[in-house]
Amino acid sequence: MKAGYFQTHPEFGEVNRNIEQVAARLGSVDCDLLVLPEFAFTGYQFIGLEEVIELSERVPDGPTTQACIEFARRYRMHVVAGLPEKAGPHCYNSAIVVGPSGFLGCYRKTHLFCEETLFFSPGDSGFKVWDVGPARIGVMICFDWYYPESARTLALQGADILCHPSNLVLPHCPDAMVTRSLENRIFSITANRVGQEARGDKPPLTFIGKSEVVSPAGRILARASADTPELTVVEIDVNEARNKSINPYNELLKDRRPGHYCS
Ligand code: ACM
Repeated sequence: MKAGYFQTHPEFGEVNRNIEQVAARLGSVDCDLLVLPEFAFTGYQFIGLEEVIELSERVPDGPTTQACIEFARRYRMHVVAGLPEKAGPHCYNSAIVVGPSGFLGCYRKTHLFCEETLFFSPGDSGFKVWDVGPARIGVMICFDWYYPESARTLALQGADILCHPSNLVLPHCPDAMVTRSLENRIFSITANRVGQEARGDKPPLTFIGKSEVVSPAGRILARASADTPELTVVEIDVNEARNKSINPYNELLKDRRPGHYCS
């Protein structure tokens, strides 16, 4: 299947314009699965709760999810994209999964990063997987990478591909995802953004780009630059993620010893 990332440069608060820019680019792309960044259409650096509430949307009825469904249908691809979700009294840092058949589901970020903890509720969805064409995909969001349990939980649920919408500001993740892929024998697609935000009197954030696709053998199949928007799609064979044999004596997931691990 053809799978990849769209590394974008959204303008804070310009949701419609950011959606239009993404949609305009998708018409010329041959792709089965495309991962977009965390908060793909709103921008990242919220300066207060009011702004978070204003830019958060219901899922799946809100306009961003509906727009994603519309372009997933039109271009016959599955899309994973981050957005601030409003649900009752809570706002979540969420990612939707949509495809040609419509809305498939939503994941709410488990491990909130830095000031996200001021504005968002910790995700209550748990880690989830979806069957998308020939692949089973699992979703985790940005800082979830720091907890190996996130990727492991998705691998144990049979995910072939980790879809990883991100707004990375620390330098370590692109290299760390090589390990996340290797230690689970799983593909990973990290979709990061580029550019800077310095809103209100907050310190500037520089997003590090370097979106990537990594194979179950830990090979970087594609990696984007640090500062330029880029859409890249690669051909992958999901069967590579289903062979968990390391050698004739070691079967990666079956050989785990959970009785010896802390919970
Ligand atoms: C992050 O979780 N946005 C770093």
